[in-house]
Amino acid sequence: MPTNGTPVVNAWTQWGRLETVVVGRADPKSCHLPHEPACHAEINDPLIADAIDWPGGSVKSAKSVELASAQLANFCAVLEAETVQVKSQKAFDSELKREVQKMRTEVIQNPDTKEKDSRVLQKGRISTLRPTEMDWSQSVSGPGWSSTSQYCATCPRDTMITIGNTILEATMSKRSRYFESLACREISLKLWRQDPEHVKFWACPKPSFADSMYHKDFWELSDKQRYERMRSYKFCVNETEPIFDAADITRCGKDIFVQKSMTTNDSGIKWLTSHFPELRVHPVHFPYDLYPSHIDCTFVPLRPPSADAGDGGLVLINSERPPLKSEAELWRKNGWKLLNAPLPAQTDRPPFSQSSYWLSMNLLSLGPKTMVIEENEIPLYNVLVEHGFDPITVPMRHMYDYGGGIHCSTWDIKREDSCVDCFPNQEYAPKHLYEQNFSDIDVVDVTSSNDGFLINPLTDIDGICGVGTLASKASRDCPDSPFSKKMRTA
Ligand code: ARG
Repeated sequence: MPTNGTPVVNAWTQWGRLETVVVGRADPKSCHLPHEPACHAEINDPLIADAIDWPGGSVKSAKSVELASAQLANFCAVLEAETVQVKSQKAFDSELKREVQKMRTEVIQNPDTKEKDSRVLQKGRISTLRPTEMDWSQSVSGPGWSSTSQYCATCPRDTMITIGNTILEATMSKRSRYFESLACREISLKLWRQDPEHVKFWACPKPSFADSMYHKDFWELSDKQRYERMRSYKFCVNETEPIFDAADITRCGKDIFVQKSMTTNDSGIKWLTSHFPELRVHPVHFPYDLYPSHIDCTFVPLRPPSADAGDGGLVLINSERPPLKSEAELWRKNGWKLLNAPLPAQTDRPPFSQSSYWLSMNLLSLGPKTMVIEENEIPLYNVLVEHGFDPITVPMRHMYDYGGGIHCSTWDIKREDSCVDCFPNQEYAPKHLYEQNFSDIDVVDVTSSNDGFLINPLTDIDGICGVGTLASKASRDCPDSPFSKKMRTA
């Protein structure tokens, strides 16, 4: 056991005070996602799509690697800093290629050097670790399958998770990501060797990645057909083998919540349930996300009901993908409230981004009161401040081309944390949770606070279907509307 009595690997929640974190790397040989049964990546810009080798796992441009690397390096510097100041300023955004209003965070050495109109935060130093550089342009293959290239190590969140004192490698669902956890292997081994008595290093069996693991017709479905089938929660991976990406899991101490998605199947949730018997594992469903992948742009616990600050337990929700009423009930009866994330400050997506504009809510908590958000996301910044938080910011839009944002690019190793019970009021029956024939699509009403939930209704902004308005509900309900196309994510 190391110095302060806590194992070197210790993270039970999303919000415990952060001490050690891995931040992803944009390696020179990072690749675009290749085409495969679990992934049909798209380019958002048709001119670029014509000009480059796509889809096919080509190497990303040196310029893009440079820009993403610089943002990740700045993120590390902010995490490592003892003191930072946050200030509103208009500045040129190299990804958006225009001037925009930002909340900009700068590292300062001495709080007395604070600039006028800035907020100073003595956040404390957080240790950052980085994955090992790899050549992602190498092809990979297994019996009966191959992938022209691999992907990159920008999103350790997808492959690795700390659950309590266990380091867990996910199975992954994409062939191109089979070996991605190797970029973190040196870190995992070192941590485990430091304290093998308390730290577990574990992995779910690697899938065969055979063709028979996938629903082949998934990518041919129209949005209308997807909408019609939303009750079945069947995506591109079938149930023949346990599959999960680590980013489909969110932790709240004794309870963890796992999203059924394109990247996580019921068998994967079942594997987690039987391998973490000391925890309560809850499958969660967001029926309006027709391409679900990773829970961290959909449902983000911010602080537990017992926290001193503000108005109690809060979870940030995405009102285009509301949680099921039946599943939200557990949160309501244990004193949590749902908070609508505001519409993103910018709805444009970088050309190679396979994620939605909801990367705006992809935040990393540094503690129950402080989190890191993207520096353009002033609407979110304001909502968080209103609810008693001290957000800080980093620029991260160049990472959006690499599969994620602030939360995705991290893997939290150590927090000041324990196996807290934030849901004492429940009857947990794991068998029933994953063995029922699931067809529930009755979601919480995001337009009004009800039954003790704070939903924080929002209104139309700039003619875009406003979150939580009747207009947005209508367009969500209509599979052919342009708005519902914007929900397409991977
Ligand atoms: N599918 C999500 C969305 O588009 C993006 C999730 C990214 N998260 C991650 N851990 N890579 O909204």
